[in-house]
Amino acid sequence: MRAPIQQVQFDTYGPPRVLTCAPVPRPTAGPQQLRVAVHAAGVNPVDWRYRQGQLKWIDWASFPRTPGADVAGVVVAAGAGVDDFRVGDRVCAMLDTRRAGGYAEQVLVPAADAVAIPSALTMVEAAGLPLVTLTAIQALRDQAKLQVGEHVLINGASGGVGTMAVQWAKAHGATVTGVCSHRNIALVESLGADAVIDYTQEDFARHTGAFDVIFDAFGNRSISDVAPALRLGGRFVTTDITPPSLGRMVGSWIMPGPAVRVVVVEPSGPDLRHAMQLVRTGALRPVVDRTFPLCDAAEAHRYSETHRAQGKIVLVTDAHGTS
Ligand SMILES: NC(=O)c1ccc[n+]([C@@H]2O[C@H](COP(=O)([O-])OP(=O)(O)OC[C@H]3O[C@@H](n4cnc5c(N)ncnc54)[C@H](OP(=O)(O)O)[C@@H]3O)[C@@H](O)[C@H]2O)c1
Repeated sequence: MRAPIQQVQFDTYGPPRVLTCAPVPRPTAGPQQLRVAVHAAGVNPVDWRYRQGQLKWIDWASFPRTPGADVAGVVVAAGAGVDDFRVGDRVCAMLDTRRAGGYAEQVLVPAADAVAIPSALTMVEAAGLPLVTLTAIQALRDQAKLQVGEHVLINGASGGVGTMAVQWAKAHGATVTGVCSHRNIALVESLGADAVIDYTQEDFARHTGAFDVIFDAFGNRSISDVAPALRLGGRFVTTDITPPSLGRMVGSWIMPGPAVRVVVVEPSGPDLRHAMQLVRTGALRPVVDRTFPLCDAAEAHRYSETHRAQGKIVLVTDAHGTS
């Protein structure tokens, strides 16, 4: 019998201490799936939002469950019909956030959502990329329809989503203003931002008519308080998936004024390949704040819940289970 693997799981909604490490059987790859030995798993706020029960209204998964939508590791088995990957390939992927499962020594990944990790990236760096980079791309390209030469403001520019959004917007010919607190100004400038606003000193909404697009990557502002900062034809996109934000989006479909959009990130192999191409050209670089051992996931959640992460938090495994 194959040895079990370690997996982080929770049996009930609650504080970080509901996360425990437990031995479970190795999964078996089905058609079009990869079984991946996870070397590193990215931590995202959605992981603790599910754990806390904040997302009960869209949450139908049963207990026990394993958080984790971002993984990087090595393919240990490929199911029927997988042509693009072989055992031994280094891959990363975003998993469906509703099912998740990435905080584990092994996980099943749909082959269509996996991409090869560029040789320049470590497993830790690769694990920090998928969900936040796909969010930035799907927000700026698909929701905001950001055009070359436009001026975009990114609120929360030093977080996981914001660090990727600043770089993606610069790579696509936009002028970028980032918003963060004083301690992160140098970081956001180093990512290519043309200007940085320290939100503890100044409210960006007072920059009347300054921006074509406002991307609220942190998700704490509403269209009603930032609308004056948008130009005619301006667009506001937020990561905040709450009923009030969704209501304001629907309202903007029928009312005159700026377009309001809520980004809801989805796994996408093609978008992740696009991101990895930007990594290869040097236009996109991961920003990793801290790593924690897999079974210290509760500590990683406590840190993420402070809202102070500079870029990404990543869990690392030490037993990769190569069979
Ligand atoms: N809708 C979607 O599909 C989707 C996808 C991804 C993420 N999200 C949501 O988007 C939000 C951001 O995610 P993330 O991964 O980027 O989070 P994160 O990495 O935890 O964000 C941490 C950053 O937020 C900054 N921050 C804290 N308070 C701020 C404020 N008042 N104004 C501006 N920045 C502030 C901090 O910088 P300072 O220390 O400088 O303040 C820190 O660098 C989360 O709520 C997450 O749930 C939604």
